[in-house]
Amino acid sequence: MNWSEGYVTDVGYTRGYYRELSSAHQSFSLAATGHEPPDLEKPFTKVELGCGYGVSLLIEAANYPHAQFFGVDFNPEHIAWAKRIASDAGIDNVHFLEMSFADLLGSPIPPAEFVVFHGVWSWVSDANRENITQFLDRRLKSGGVVMVSFNTLPGWSALQGLRELMMRRYRSLAGPSQARILQALKFAGDFKSVGAQIFARSPGLAEHLEKISAGDTRYLAHEYFNQDWGLFYHHQVADRLAQARLSFASSCKLIDNIDRLNMPPSALALAEQVAPSERETLKDIYVNRMFRYDIFSRGLEKSKIVATIDHVLNGRFVMIDDRSKIASGEVPLPMGKSKLKSEMYDPVLRRLEAGPATGQELAIQAGAKPLNHVDLIEVLSILIDLGVIGIALPPAGLEDRKLRTLRLNAALQRRIMKGDDMAWLASPMTSAGVIVPDFIQLFMAAHDQGVEPISFAWQTLKALGKRMTRDGKTLKDEAENLAELQARFEIFKSDIGPRFTKLGILN
Ligand SMILES: C[S@@+](CC[C@H](N)C(=O)[O-])C[C@H]1O[C@@H](n2cnc3c(N)ncnc32)[C@H](O)[C@@H]1O
Repeated sequence: MNWSEGYVTDVGYTRGYYRELSSAHQSFSLAATGHEPPDLEKPFTKVELGCGYGVSLLIEAANYPHAQFFGVDFNPEHIAWAKRIASDAGIDNVHFLEMSFADLLGSPIPPAEFVVFHGVWSWVSDANRENITQFLDRRLKSGGVVMVSFNTLPGWSALQGLRELMMRRYRSLAGPSQARILQALKFAGDFKSVGAQIFARSPGLAEHLEKISAGDTRYLAHEYFNQDWGLFYHHQVADRLAQARLSFASSCKLIDNIDRLNMPPSALALAEQVAPSERETLKDIYVNRMFRYDIFSRGLEKSKIVATIDHVLNGRFVMIDDRSKIASGEVPLPMGKSKLKSEMYDPVLRRLEAGPATGQELAIQAGAKPLNHVDLIEVLSILIDLGVIGIALPPAGLEDRKLRTLRLNAALQRRIMKGDDMAWLASPMTSAGVIVPDFIQLFMAAHDQGVEPISFAWQTLKALGKRMTRDGKTLKDEAENLAELQARFEIFKSDIGPRFTKLGILN
């Protein structure tokens, strides 16, 4: 076996940002569930295992100059890219290490307050899960926080058969992974057409195959086609990590922490029959959950919410997107679509549209009737999970963060101009990355260079072989692309640009 240990390495992963990896996000989740979070204003050390291209770590490192960040990945293409961005941007508190999980214990990584690994646990061998567990055992500080995401049972059970089907064809082929993946998808489609009963008897499976067949093969490669692929119940992961003296604290999907949004009163009453430690699995079974982002901690005691609510009340929040995701008033929750109570949400959004505010200000000043702690946590959790608002960074240090994030964004934008797919930028106002599609980044570059934006964006897209899309369809001819760019530029001028200026992303 070569260094890749059966993990797909000839197709780079997507250059994504995940707010669940952010320390501020994890700290909010902890405080909102009665756990005292680490103090992010003091120096801290954070490690990301399997960091991919390191986008989440780079964005966080730019905003926390007093902390040290370590990213580990064995794929040289990922680490070389991440190192180049860090060096181009002059972000010197992030260190990318090209190494395998097997070498973690021999690494110079110091004891850490945070160790996170997203998209790793389900996709590596059991031996590597053991390497990670031992690393946590030895290098996580007391009171430290671990974030592990994994493909969850029972939600994934139906898809397991589909993955097996595709994998049989994939393993029968030789050559580059991407071509094999396309063949495997086609094979699964053909198998469905000849009447395979797995599709007839598993609701939604045929639609899922159709959806992934139209998806990004880079994501599919890393999701379905690694040699190792494990599905877990929450309690299985909890038992494994207990070996490293870790216990479950909360979920980074903030909505998943709110029991009444995961089970109706009748199911919650039944859940009383099982021990609290077993209830997470029960919730997953109730909503047929497919993915978890769990926070485990070493020694963070769970208290009543009154003990930690001051972290939420004194925390600051900021609008990072417009209201379009909640314009219909309905949002996707674990039990299905649900209507938001506008009397609770509107005043909070109105206040945040005027500028960043503390939890206390949102609760008291937002509406005629102050929000109680439970409602405040619900409103903030839902709006953060939807990406409408973010956790704001403190006013102290803003000028330094502005310089650092502008440098990072410029380095990222230079890569976009060379054709790298990257849709995230850093804001000095919030710990969260902000999504910025490529054509908007080109409008921003035109703004910085003082050139005409529409033809600049079009000439760059054309040179990179890219095209605009409308309603999911790629626009082929020049006139259509120019018209679409013009329409998008109007929205940029009236809405996105002013918001980005407030977020310190646009000068
Ligand atoms: C699905 S990707 C997730 C990347 C990143 N965490 C993110 O969320 O964008 C998993 C990453 O783990 C890395 N990886 C897998 N097995 C590894 C191993 N044994 N040692 C080090 N890195 C590994 C892969 O190269 C890949 O970048």
